[in-house]
Amino acid sequence: MIKVSPSILSANFAALISDINEAKSGGADYLHIDVMDGVFVPNITLGIPVVRSLRNATDMFFDVHLMIDRPHRYVKDFCEAGADLVTVHLEADQPQDLLDAISTIRACGKKVGMSLKPRTPAEALIPYLPMLDLVLVMTVEPGFGGQSFMHEQLSKIKAIRAMLDSVNPRCEIEVDGGIDAQTSGLVKEAGANVLAAGSSVFGAKDRGAAIEALRNA
Ligand code: DX5
Ligand code: ZN
Repeated sequence: MIKVSPSILSANFAALISDINEAKSGGADYLHIDVMDGVFVPNITLGIPVVRSLRNATDMFFDVHLMIDRPHRYVKDFCEAGADLVTVHLEADQPQDLLDAISTIRACGKKVGMSLKPRTPAEALIPYLPMLDLVLVMTVEPGFGGQSFMHEQLSKIKAIRAMLDSVNPRCEIEVDGGIDAQTSGLVKEAGANVLAAGSSVFGAKDRGAAIEALRNA
């Protein structure tokens, strides 16, 4: 099943809940929340208090994408603030700390995601694959919305789908960066089933039509 996860990075932060409600009524499955710390990526966005406030304002499924250094330090806080799925970057922590982050998220009863930057090979995921609910393949360099889709990531999506099919077939693959009505067809064909999209949803006048275009492309 294809799921659409609009990224609030491209929403109007002064009218966040009304943008979120439009995405929800437009058929969004998840809400993609990009957390950036100015260290792991060259941008700063939002943090735990914002997630907590939004949790009190909507029942949407929170797909929290942590683009922060050494995320094991904060995963529990994001779970307690109301995340439903917490995704950490493979490049952002030591292997043992990633394992700790995974078990902490799991102990909180939340879903576990792991993300790869464009230059990180699919094979780097191998030690973690059986423990994950979702793999997030970045199709742009993380840090900013509105960048162009990197077509060379399509073969990585295929390789990850093949590895998952043998060790963890229920694990989902999400893509993030430059996803629009054109590129969504390509990533679905490659094996992705969760589409994070910022500018193509919140940049559109009719959010519901944009979400359906992504789903049906
Ligand atoms: C970028 C973020 C994305 C971003 C995508 O680092 O992780 O979620 O919002 O934006 P678009 O869809 O505009 O490429
Ligand atoms: Zn993201």
